[in-house]
Amino acid sequence: MSDRPRLLPLLGATRHGSRDAMTCLYRCGNACDHPVPNTSDNTYFGDLVEGEVSRRGVVRAGAVGALVLGFGSTAVGALAGAAPAAAAPATPVVPEVGNPTAPQRGVGSGALTFKPIPPNQLDTLVVPNGYDHHVVIRWGDPVLPGAPRFDLRGQTAAAQAKQFGYNNDFVGVLPLDRRGKRALLVVNHEYTNEDLMFPGFTGLDNLTVEQVRTAMAAHGMSVVELERVDGTGQWRPVGQGRRPYNRRVTALGTKFELTGPAAGSAWLRTAADPKGRTVVGTLNNCAGGVTPWGTVLSGEENFNQYFVGADAAPAELKPRFDRYGITTAARYPSGSRKWERADERFDLAKHPNEAHRFGWIVEIDPFDPESRPRKHTALGRFKHEGANVIVARDKRVVAYMGDDERFDYLYKFVSDKKYLPGDSWVARKNNLTLLESGTLYVAQFAQTSAAEIDGSGKLPADGAFNGTGRWIKLVSGNRSYVDGMTAADVLTFTRLAGDKVGATKMDRPEDVEPSLLTGKVYVALTNNSDRGKAGKPAADEINPRNLNKHGQILELVEDRGDNTAESFSWSLPIVAGDPADPSTYFAGYDKTKVSPISCPDNVAFDATGNLWISTDGNALGSNDGLFATAVEGPERGHLKQFLTVPLGAETCGPFITGDNRSVFVAVQHPGEITGASVEKPASTWPDGDYAKPGVVVTWRLDGGPIGS
Ligand code: FEO
Ligand code: CA
Ligand code: CA
Ligand code: CA
Repeated sequence: MSDRPRLLPLLGATRHGSRDAMTCLYRCGNACDHPVPNTSDNTYFGDLVEGEVSRRGVVRAGAVGALVLGFGSTAVGALAGAAPAAAAPATPVVPEVGNPTAPQRGVGSGALTFKPIPPNQLDTLVVPNGYDHHVVIRWGDPVLPGAPRFDLRGQTAAAQAKQFGYNNDFVGVLPLDRRGKRALLVVNHEYTNEDLMFPGFTGLDNLTVEQVRTAMAAHGMSVVELERVDGTGQWRPVGQGRRPYNRRVTALGTKFELTGPAAGSAWLRTAADPKGRTVVGTLNNCAGGVTPWGTVLSGEENFNQYFVGADAAPAELKPRFDRYGITTAARYPSGSRKWERADERFDLAKHPNEAHRFGWIVEIDPFDPESRPRKHTALGRFKHEGANVIVARDKRVVAYMGDDERFDYLYKFVSDKKYLPGDSWVARKNNLTLLESGTLYVAQFAQTSAAEIDGSGKLPADGAFNGTGRWIKLVSGNRSYVDGMTAADVLTFTRLAGDKVGATKMDRPEDVEPSLLTGKVYVALTNNSDRGKAGKPAADEINPRNLNKHGQILELVEDRGDNTAESFSWSLPIVAGDPADPSTYFAGYDKTKVSPISCPDNVAFDATGNLWISTDGNALGSNDGLFATAVEGPERGHLKQFLTVPLGAETCGPFITGDNRSVFVAVQHPGEITGASVEKPASTWPDGDYAKPGVVVTWRLDGGPIGS
């Protein structure tokens, strides 16, 4: 591994922030070059000024259905350490509700004792003094029995479908026993970068069909059984791909069941699936979440870029394709991933409804390797970053979700049915259907200091970017609340429904996650290069900077501490950037003591309720990284950088185990810098030869917890 400092090899143009043009092409199909898909003129945020609200909500720790997914005594391990002998349906490890390991006093205000690392441009993974790290698994490592050793020059779809996929994003670690010795790693593989995968690459058009199919097999998800390395926070795969839970989900062959009110609707029927209930594959799976019942949710994000032929589709579909950024020559001249060369359903001229079968929240049960994963239409269709669930006080479950696009919206789903605790057959059966029916809402925000917002990021006189807001009901069960749209219309074209009801246009809502210890919800608003541009919405109190390069963190507190409430208050604890920049804000904490941060993307919580934030596209010149801060008490806003990832990479995951002993991150797209190739890598992480995405675990050398 190369640890020597290197200058960023700026071979090509960087785009917004430090995001390289190559990342823009492969990850989101150059979304920033395209017109903003939201051209609606729905209600302007500034018209909704309401009265003063308190700056911070009241902590109501213990009042919500708090739970811990982890390795402590409260992480209920039904297996009691017994590995399944065969691939029989596994007994799930169901986390308890209402029994957090964290002390109620001091929730979210734990001291983070690590010494922050400085920004850097090293081609290595950097962790604080006193910590170690190791690659858990990388692209091409075996996942399934019979997986051949990775052969860079002899890649096949069949081999890749048994190996760890490309560009790991979401990371979930689910305990398999009570002793904290075994766990399942569940990972999304968001997208591929063929420049960096195939030796001799000369353009997407020149790939063989087998190479296209290999890329399709490198998408999806992986489930990998891990074991803890004794006495440390280190984890490693067990059994060389021969464990019964291990699984690959791909864009090529895995069948998904559509559930919910839009399943079977005319929008979802195709020649290959005339009933509109079964979809082959999932793609562009970005972030996700672990549910209280031990399944994993995953968001299908930039699915638009995989389709061609929209111009030849029926005319009535074109405005719908436009709103989702699906290629029509008139508005979106850039091409696709060329998947239509391997599978004609990606050609909308032939199969116009196929595009509607992506853009959903996917649920997979990693404890049942034979189970069919599902796409839940009740949670709406947009460029889903991910979804995170909390059990509300009345035991209904609430999923929070972001639509990652400039000027798109924030959503939540409230289930009809109630969560049943425990891992009985009855509870399990019930909980697996919780996301199949319920109510979908979109957020509309109101501000307290509208007249003072000038786009500079200057803090209003009341000392906070804050306000109130309401959840606007879009659909409940089979009943639509949007004029002129049926429930199936609303769920399949959720962006159009949000436009009609006046949802608030946000600065790219990425990961949205409730703290299970307080019920407060945190949203990563990553950036918005178009905010305040001519003809585009100007800054408002929740998106307070024009040409927003660095993003902000939103804290949302539901009224009465009830996650099913239809109204809330909000504030911005962090307005990101260089702390020396007057437009930044760190909850009022002394800015000389905080780490610079740019482009927050994923959020997570440790067992004490501190907020962890990973970044994508650092616009301050450093590699991307992982940060942590308390969110309650005097340390709120004391943001410290915990790690950085190698050159060209973004930091995904993250996941902190419930015993606070291990921090997992996914290193996505290392070396993704224009001009780089397998032969001319811009990063040689992790093995010193060419760049490979991989999942890393970090732990304290003395075995102690992260922080104190
Ligand atoms: Fe895949 Fe919104 O990042
Ligand atoms: Ca993301
Ligand atoms: Ca998260
Ligand atoms: Ca991202």
